[in-house]
Amino acid sequence: MNESQTFPHFSPGKLFVGPGSSADLVREIPGNPVYLVVTDRGLSQAGMAARLTRILEQEGRRFHVFDNVVSDPPMEVVASAFETAKQNECSAVLALGGGSSLDAAKAVAVRMKHDVSLRDYGNGRLVKGPIAPLYAIPTTAGTGSEATRVAVITDVEKKEKMAIRGDHLTPLACALDPDMIVGIPARIAAETGADALTHAIEAFVSRNANSITDALALAAIEKIGLHLRRFAQDTTNAAAALEMLVASCLAGQAFTNAGLGLVHSIGEVLGSRYHTSHGLSCALYLPATMAFNLPAVPEKFTQIARALGEDVKDLAPEEAGNRAVGAVRKLFVDLKIPLTYAEAGIDFSLTPKMVDDVLPQFSTSCNPRKVDADEVAALFNAPMG
Ligand SMILES: [Fe+2]
Repeated sequence: MNESQTFPHFSPGKLFVGPGSSADLVREIPGNPVYLVVTDRGLSQAGMAARLTRILEQEGRRFHVFDNVVSDPPMEVVASAFETAKQNECSAVLALGGGSSLDAAKAVAVRMKHDVSLRDYGNGRLVKGPIAPLYAIPTTAGTGSEATRVAVITDVEKKEKMAIRGDHLTPLACALDPDMIVGIPARIAAETGADALTHAIEAFVSRNANSITDALALAAIEKIGLHLRRFAQDTTNAAAALEMLVASCLAGQAFTNAGLGLVHSIGEVLGSRYHTSHGLSCALYLPATMAFNLPAVPEKFTQIARALGEDVKDLAPEEAGNRAVGAVRKLFVDLKIPLTYAEAGIDFSLTPKMVDDVLPQFSTSCNPRKVDADEVAALFNAPMG
């Protein structure tokens, strides 16, 4: 960060935080809109959607549930949800779920106010002006989508993901309610937590980091170091769940301003080719990419090591920074996250196109160390085991 320059900082909407805060969120929403509740079948079957609709009924709110969101939501799912909203005269959107439901809900809220093809936004056009009133309750602690200005939607025809962007895409209000996340599978807790850690670390070392994003990212790293293990060990631990929800939201606020880095560029390419979960795709590359970036910003990696509880007193910056890489690797081992393609069940083979797809990405431009094609290929090959 150049201290002589000005910078904008974008903050998310109102947050309701703590056990039962979903009810506070519903109570505080002004007016009496008809909600489209956007969620997925798994949350419906697990009774989580019913938990929310009970609250809506108790508060006398009108709603219609759309629970057909799938992971990496395609444009067709957004179109179907939009039709449901039109047929039921919905005027607001309430998202319940992980990143996929939140991203689909954002895109639906865009369509409810803007008569423009999502593909146009995917081509770089910003969403200008308000979208339909949007509220969110995350049920994973990872994507930070409740705090970001982007929705990632899949264009199945073109076999690519589109990032729909604009300041208005952030929900007006969110609930970080541990009652809505406790009991999730341990694997989901671990992998989404790894995503949140990647957001925080990449935002912290980003070329676009500033003093505010640094504070947010460092706080998120510290919380994840303290609480992710115990949350993944026992996802009914409401205190750990809340700390992870807060950490994920802080990391989201950091990266929506500072951007991400190479881990996300490479992870996205792997995910679209092998359909690995986003969190796992990030975890596979985070330690090696940290080691690659270390020479560019050793002091920052020293701070990461310290935030993760490492004793770096009297160590030279590079050595101290290496402790951060080791701490992340150990965390992933403790969480039983695969660190090699073999462990992840991926029959990996690298193509030149995969490398080419990484280089022009925005996240790559935020990475603290410049990278060439050979170095990207080496990072792709790092998890060979
Ligand atoms: Fe991510």
